[in-house]
Amino acid sequence: MLDVLPHKIHDESRQGEAYAPFVNDPSVYRKKFYIESYGCQMNFSDSEIVASILNGAGFGATRNVEEADLLLLNTCSIREKAEQTVRNRLTAFRKAKESRPGLLVGMLGCMAERLKSKLLEEEKLVDMVVGPDAYRSLPALIEEAEGGQKAVNVLLSREETYADISPVRLDSNGITAFVSIMRGCNNMCTFCVVPFTRGRERSRDADSIIAECTDLFNRGYKEVTLLGQNVDSYFFATGNAGEQAVTFAMLLEKVADISPLLRVRFSTSHPKDITDDVLHVMVRYDNICKYIHLPVQSGSTRILQLMNRTYTREWYMAKIDRIREIIPGCGISSDIIAGFCTETEEDHKDTLSLMEYSGYDMSYMFFYSERPGTLAQRRYTDDIPEEVKKRRLQEIVSLQNELSRQSNEKDTGRTFEVLIEGDSKKSTEDWMGRTSQNKVIVFSKKDHPFSKGDYVHVRVTDCTKATLLGEVVMNG
Ligand code: 5AD
Ligand code: SF4
Repeated sequence: MLDVLPHKIHDESRQGEAYAPFVNDPSVYRKKFYIESYGCQMNFSDSEIVASILNGAGFGATRNVEEADLLLLNTCSIREKAEQTVRNRLTAFRKAKESRPGLLVGMLGCMAERLKSKLLEEEKLVDMVVGPDAYRSLPALIEEAEGGQKAVNVLLSREETYADISPVRLDSNGITAFVSIMRGCNNMCTFCVVPFTRGRERSRDADSIIAECTDLFNRGYKEVTLLGQNVDSYFFATGNAGEQAVTFAMLLEKVADISPLLRVRFSTSHPKDITDDVLHVMVRYDNICKYIHLPVQSGSTRILQLMNRTYTREWYMAKIDRIREIIPGCGISSDIIAGFCTETEEDHKDTLSLMEYSGYDMSYMFFYSERPGTLAQRRYTDDIPEEVKKRRLQEIVSLQNELSRQSNEKDTGRTFEVLIEGDSKKSTEDWMGRTSQNKVIVFSKKDHPFSKGDYVHVRVTDCTKATLLGEVVMNG
């Protein structure tokens, strides 16, 4: 027997709150599905689209593996470790099948294409394999699998954006939501498997994005994060004569116009694509959060070239200067890879010094993990020994801890507008919220009649390296 699974965000980088689908009204649905998601926010957002499609096919969500008729894993291929975790989960699911013959197991997402025949035919770990662009075919595939066939659809599409599907918010706090604005990626960073697992870049119809965000606001949500692998290259044209194409800067403005009480965030920005237009829109709207996730990957121009990032160290520094000039006080975070092919100590030192120059408030840090089929795997040798990769990563992590501490100390004594997201993780007597710069802040509920979803002014009184602590300022 399999225990009720822990409901966690299975994300090496984006560690977060508990995650599980809410339980739907059992009288409405003939069957139940259980879904676990791994990887990036995009994958979590996809699981909400999957939930909507499954609801339409008569499946309600459950948190409990024991009562599910269908177990789904939405998978990630970005690093080897993520794939290994998924394999372990699939093995546990197969055990559950042994005692419950009718139970179906499906693998969704980025691992689908690469491992379909292995997991389906050789190892017989799953009954269904469904790629990120094939979720509309889930009901038909379930029927096939119920009939005893191996059901597979891993076709990638040039058009699919699921624009017309209203995501079912899974285990939401009711205040913050992610809205997918584009899919796929055209940047061929040599280390990255995403262009192969998620296909070509395509932008979602702008009107459908505005409609989804408006609906969220009308249902009490106070913050939307616009999601894409590379949001700054968003570009949507209807093709109708006289209708203007929508750029990311324009989209941002349209979403911000929904209401001054709706906060807007976005992720991820490729440094080569974020424009001054976007920065100026950010300044013009108080409700567009002053925070940019701007992955650098490496501080060495030589390594950046091998990674095909299309910018140099100096160009990136100039971008940081520009952000600081146009949006003073903007929060900036990064992704960094330690130990990419041929990386020398000098290259590594360049990464450390660029981190200091940029003064990141936060970073997601990884050591290089060679992925099958990527350009780096085909062109270069993964030649940095694991101990060296790990030691360099540790140096990067230590420096980031120091930078985060400095950044938090700078905020001490200052007052920020905070959106309350819910109880703090540690105590129901404290609220947890975020500043515009995306920093988590915890403060006492005592004597204040606030609810989650409220905006409050909070003065920072203290900090740890990860969290600000504060107190409410009534006339802030
Ligand atoms: N090895 C290590 N980290 C990787 N990332 C992407 N591919 C790899 C890889 N092969 C990191 C990058 C990216 C983030 C989402 O994951 O830093 O920005
Ligand atoms: Fe997300 Fe990338 Fe993982 Fe796919 S491979 S789930 S896009 S992080």
